[in-house]
Amino acid sequence: MTDLVSLTGIRKNFLGVHALKGVDFNLKAGEVHALVGENGAGKSTLMRVLAGEIAPTSGTITLDGEVTQLSGPRDATSRGISVIHQELALAPDLTVAENIFLGRLPGVVNHAALRKAASAILNRLGFDIDPGAEAGTLTVAHQQVVEIAKALSNNARVIVFDEPTAVLANSDAERLLAIIRELRAAGAGVVYISHRLNEVFDLSDRITIMKDGSHVETVETAATDVDTVIARMVGRQMSALFPPKEGRAPGDVVVDVRNINRGRKVRNVSFTVRAGEVVGLGGLVGSGRTEVARLIFGADRMDSGAIELHGKPLRLSSPRDAVRARIGLVPESRKEQGVILEAPIRVNTTLAKIRSVTRMGFLNVGKERRIANALGADMRLKASSVEAPVSSLSGGNQQKVALAKWFHADCELLILDEPTRGVDVGAKSEIYNLINDLAKAGKAVLVISSEHQELFGICDRILVMAEGAIVGELDEDAFTEHELLTLAMTQSARDRDEASQ
Ligand SMILES: Nc1ncnc2c1ncn2[C@@H]1O[C@H](COP(=O)(O)OP(=O)(O)OP(=O)(O)O)[C@@H](O)[C@H]1O
Ligand SMILES: [Mg+2]
Repeated sequence: MTDLVSLTGIRKNFLGVHALKGVDFNLKAGEVHALVGENGAGKSTLMRVLAGEIAPTSGTITLDGEVTQLSGPRDATSRGISVIHQELALAPDLTVAENIFLGRLPGVVNHAALRKAASAILNRLGFDIDPGAEAGTLTVAHQQVVEIAKALSNNARVIVFDEPTAVLANSDAERLLAIIRELRAAGAGVVYISHRLNEVFDLSDRITIMKDGSHVETVETAATDVDTVIARMVGRQMSALFPPKEGRAPGDVVVDVRNINRGRKVRNVSFTVRAGEVVGLGGLVGSGRTEVARLIFGADRMDSGAIELHGKPLRLSSPRDAVRARIGLVPESRKEQGVILEAPIRVNTTLAKIRSVTRMGFLNVGKERRIANALGADMRLKASSVEAPVSSLSGGNQQKVALAKWFHADCELLILDEPTRGVDVGAKSEIYNLINDLAKAGKAVLVISSEHQELFGICDRILVMAEGAIVGELDEDAFTEHELLTLAMTQSARDRDEASQ
């Protein structure tokens, strides 16, 4: 059978950066082909070539056995190729429905019909998203779902998912995996890019490993295992993913959150985080975790309640106040709030603590560069230099910069919202080490994550949220998927029953 897609000898140079060094990749009808590799290996770039977004420096694209030149993204779309990007690219001011059919809207838009069609696709995906809502008001997870709906509405035969589940909670992720299996059964070819190797093994028929812009190997999934893939991916033997928690001694209460409320999203939330403690916030996407983080960071206003830092009331009218009080937040959406994309890595790294590199109003560029280089090395940042703009980095490397900025800021309380989203296993382990170091140095850390293993691996205890409230707390001996999900799901179901009565 001819391949749906065959890419051969694909090279791509960006002003001195050899992102792709002659990569071969093929996709058959009715297969899920996983593409894995460290941050910056070239996975997204290769798929942007397939999407007609960037022209390769050299190499051949063959579709259905015919050598083809793609003139642009529209050309690719019209040939049945859809790419769901890692960095979300919705038009924030347009509605969900308009986004789904963007580029294929008739001159005169029948909004009712459009919404109905959008609803049908969203329902098929199993998500309750208002097609009339402005895309910019959705959570990151729901924006991702809209991107997926957009690809499905296009009846694509080649569908690329670039880190689709990184922002989804486990239950939502499973729904997505079921949809991908349906697409495969219907004869589509699916490329699946993910750092969650358990998913890759669950789902894929073949795996292609990339490293440093080159093709390492393509294997049948059934003929390999996770450890082998990791070793080939990172090119070294990995030690334990999580650092030992010993040597962390929780001290005084750093932050004391008391009965904070905001609309229906945050309801009577109370908890403390002590010095030297890593506390997790678990629960399903939409359970209110991000909203709690935003209240403590002064990004939103509380309706009622109080927050104390080191026993003193905190008055937060903006994130500026939080930063002054030495509270940091790495947000889930780095694109909007985490980093200045156009600015160099160096500038971003010291952004939250600019005073450390200025003297009498003058910036010490050399010092700034040293700090950026050191943090970059700690996190295995892949960049041509610290002078490169963050926008030129791969998704996972952008996330590392967002983290570096706050690791440097010397916060009393650091809140991390999905800190390792899109980060490869090697770099994950370095990030866990840095979090552990913060705790050992007596800082308070609050971590939101939809990857339960991550919470289990780094936290001292986990608060579980459902429907805006804290519904339970897990101590280390109760760190199991079952305990966490039981709390997160039974509680929310009970709330729904009450609400419907
Ligand atoms: N527009 C650009 N300008 C300069 N360099 C770029 C550009 N786009 C990508 N690169 C570089 O190409 C390399 C490959 O990036 P790519 O985004 O393909 O990696 P990736 O495998 O998708 O990584 P991740 O897992 O982090 O998403 C990186 O070193 C990146 O910095
Ligand atoms: Mg990528």
